[in-house]
Amino acid sequence: MKKVDFLVIGSGIAGLSFALKAAKYGKVLIVTKSNEDESNTKYAQGGVAVVVDKSDSFEKHIQDTLIAGDGLCDEKVVEIVVKEGPQRIQEIIDYGTNFDKDPSGVFDLAKEGGHSEHRVLHYKDITGYEIERVLLKQIHENENIEILTHYFCLELITQHHLGVHVDKSSKDINCYGIYAFNTERNDVEKILANVTVMASGGCGHIYSTTTNPVIATGDGMAMVYRAKGKIRNMEFIQFHPTALYNPGEYPSFLISEAVRGFGGVLKRRNGEEFMYEYDERGSLAPRDIVARAIDNEMKKSGDDFVYLDITMRSKEDILRHFPNIYAKCLSIGIDMTKDYIPVTPAAHYMCGGVMVDEHGKSSINNLYACGEVSSTGLHGANRLASNSLLEATVFAHRIFESAVASFKDNVIPDNIPEWDDKGVIQINEDILVTHNLRETQKIMSDYVGIVRSDFRLDRALRRLYLLFEETEEFYKNNKVSVKLCELRNVIQVAYMVIKSAMHRKESRGLHYTTDYPNHANKLEDTII
Ligand code: SIN
Repeated sequence: MKKVDFLVIGSGIAGLSFALKAAKYGKVLIVTKSNEDESNTKYAQGGVAVVVDKSDSFEKHIQDTLIAGDGLCDEKVVEIVVKEGPQRIQEIIDYGTNFDKDPSGVFDLAKEGGHSEHRVLHYKDITGYEIERVLLKQIHENENIEILTHYFCLELITQHHLGVHVDKSSKDINCYGIYAFNTERNDVEKILANVTVMASGGCGHIYSTTTNPVIATGDGMAMVYRAKGKIRNMEFIQFHPTALYNPGEYPSFLISEAVRGFGGVLKRRNGEEFMYEYDERGSLAPRDIVARAIDNEMKKSGDDFVYLDITMRSKEDILRHFPNIYAKCLSIGIDMTKDYIPVTPAAHYMCGGVMVDEHGKSSINNLYACGEVSSTGLHGANRLASNSLLEATVFAHRIFESAVASFKDNVIPDNIPEWDDKGVIQINEDILVTHNLRETQKIMSDYVGIVRSDFRLDRALRRLYLLFEETEEFYKNNKVSVKLCELRNVIQVAYMVIKSAMHRKESRGLHYTTDYPNHANKLEDTII
């Protein structure tokens, strides 16, 4: 058993930024399911959108975010994130993060889809890797922070574990910590905390093709849902328009939107540019529009990809800006300085998640959520490119301010039981788990992808239900394993996505359905 002041689940930018601040006030424990640097943050290529240039303004960044969000952003939250962003990014720079500058020492700002200005800070095409490196270095130097790697969080501990009935409408669900599976010792530990911050990232692996690392199985969203916390807008899954088409590679390699910001143009097999037929902003239209256009092009041509052409830029420029993408493409025989890159959309970012207020508080007491797992209201129905790292730093700070003001008042009961797995057995039938995972991902990709319909959603739900029943039965009777718990989480998140999509009888942002192709008159969040 462990007991700490602040417990952080996840080791991406959100969790690490919070931990560094909170450690000035108490003991921080970070629990992460894989290696300490394994997170969506590490794979963020493009960068951080932030107003730093004189020709830019908060108003422009706010407007771009609201337009991308297609009516569903919380305007107050957008203003908070955009205006507090520069200060938070300065902190990351002060920790030692490098962002590219031009020879005169001015930030080399990139442009991405939906942005009216160049405002994306980046470090070559490995921005997230650089941020993660610097934050972890700071964490290692801090004696008040401990990291437990290869610990898989199973459940949030609430009154439910004390035998108290918890109603989902209750305003008084309390979080006291977690049960976590120590994968090296193969047992479950109880970790108690005055404050728990869920920063466990996204859920790309509910789909067969995703740019997310394999750890992104929606664990945080599923855990909060099981603990009866509120979850918002799960129908808004962002498909990145340009993942590298490389059959057999899983997960997919991302071709950053910054390539299009640098002049890259989407083309048909015959070399024709097509995006202006869909949107006046061409290849740099917001992601929902570009992904749908590519989906439509692929359906018309029968191809599994379209092309991205950046050959108009010099080899020197391409190598300076995109060394990682260049090397990856070359490794599969594509020289992006001369060849078109085959690209296809892939699940990339969950715009919904654990519903939080402007201080990052969830509907469960003493539980905060930060980063991709959360739904702050910033992204609305579609996230503006490169707004997520910014959101994570701004909310990590706000959570820190709120949590340090109250953590000493949070009482943890002294009768919280240990994890009970009496009566369960170890069945080595991993094939059941693997099969059900693949089947869930296929259902989601085939029926709940970029273009949806009532018929497809209905079919998806019916098939998922069978997998849900089988998996729950298996879970009840078996010793826990990471793969089984991830499957359970994937199915529960897939369920939330389908139910939310069914509830939204309109097309908006990332949710497009052929049955209701237009906006509804009333603006509404979907809350589960
Ligand atoms: C990219 O580099 O295209 C990804 C950036 C993002 O998802 O915000």
